[in-house]
Amino acid sequence: MTYIDIIGEEINQKEQYQEQPAINHEWLKKAMNHVLKKIDQNLKRFTHDFPSASTENLQYKAVNGLDVDWTEGFWTGMLWLAYEVTNDEKYRQIAELQVKSFKERIEKQVKTNTHDLGFLYSLSCVSAYKLTGNQEAKEAALLAADLLMKRYHPKAKIIQAWGDLNNPEEQGRMIIDCNLNLPLLYWASEVTGDRKYFDVASNHIHQAVKYIVRKDSSTFHTFYMDVETGEPIEGKTHQGYSDDSCWSRGQAWGIYGFALNYVYTKDVSLLELSKKVTNYFLNRLPEDDVCYWDLIFTDGDKQERDSSGAAIAVCGMLEILKHLPLLDTDSMYYKNAALTILKSLEEHYTTSETEEENGVLLHSVYNKGRGMGIDESCLWGDYYYFEALVRLSKAWGMYW
Ligand code: GLY
Repeated sequence: MTYIDIIGEEINQKEQYQEQPAINHEWLKKAMNHVLKKIDQNLKRFTHDFPSASTENLQYKAVNGLDVDWTEGFWTGMLWLAYEVTNDEKYRQIAELQVKSFKERIEKQVKTNTHDLGFLYSLSCVSAYKLTGNQEAKEAALLAADLLMKRYHPKAKIIQAWGDLNNPEEQGRMIIDCNLNLPLLYWASEVTGDRKYFDVASNHIHQAVKYIVRKDSSTFHTFYMDVETGEPIEGKTHQGYSDDSCWSRGQAWGIYGFALNYVYTKDVSLLELSKKVTNYFLNRLPEDDVCYWDLIFTDGDKQERDSSGAAIAVCGMLEILKHLPLLDTDSMYYKNAALTILKSLEEHYTTSETEEENGVLLHSVYNKGRGMGIDESCLWGDYYYFEALVRLSKAWGMYW
């Protein structure tokens, strides 16, 4: 399939997104202060240790920098965002300490057998380099980019998501989340002048367009390729409800990820695709505009929300808006939809001020099928919510 074959949908909730919700500077300040307060409550505990991927009973546990997951970068990324919006050196100092831990992790290759090196190193180290010129961070991020390159299957033209490249269960599997790992490679091409990183990233994204996106512009979570012949095999879910349903966070990774890949490749069809993926997402939102964990569910199905998917989608729409022509007929809807979702998150999905709840956003689902992080806070949800607020407050230079 090529993108010409992807038909997609128009936004059918246009009536709902005619009006811009009441969001002003006071609202933004209040929302931002809540995030900063939560960061401050956690700062001491998560200086040398990191918060776990998601909470248990609404509490992040402390994990050591070398006993880790795919998510630690979201915490360091939040510290960099906090530093940017406050200019307070305390955030920078701790973020810089954490850069050293990321450097050690990549040098020792601790749990680096994953494509999530992009999530980890874009937010912790590319950010540090872009904001402060930190050379150690640059070196660590380039080591991560080199390791990510090793996950590329040249015949299938994809980066394998998880596990050993010869593991039959994982071999040739690409996943929609990888869209967000590719900016690390585009950045590596920019800073080294070596085009090989760019070529691998752009080959991967075009395979994702071809095989992960379905004709109606919904997405498979994961898709297997034959690494010997380069032929497509089949789409499979990992975190969604079923192989043919649409995992909400996956669709959100698609919205944001295809837009980011447009930014680096300048392939306008990726921006168009990102719009179609967005329309599918918006058309399946419930009454309060915050998605359930799979888009197959709606109000009355007694399922949990995934507030993190909502926050990712908002960042994606805010990025799309930066690139649409002034007269694009849909841009008003994307703007109003993004702000409506964000307002709903702020009003109904944020934690209380008490330290009993140490995350920012409530009601996310990490992995329903495996019973992980159900109706809890998760680190990436907190990060993307903060990124969305920062995007409203200034012309933000992306870490991606
Ligand atoms: N990238 C893994 C997840 O979204 O849960």
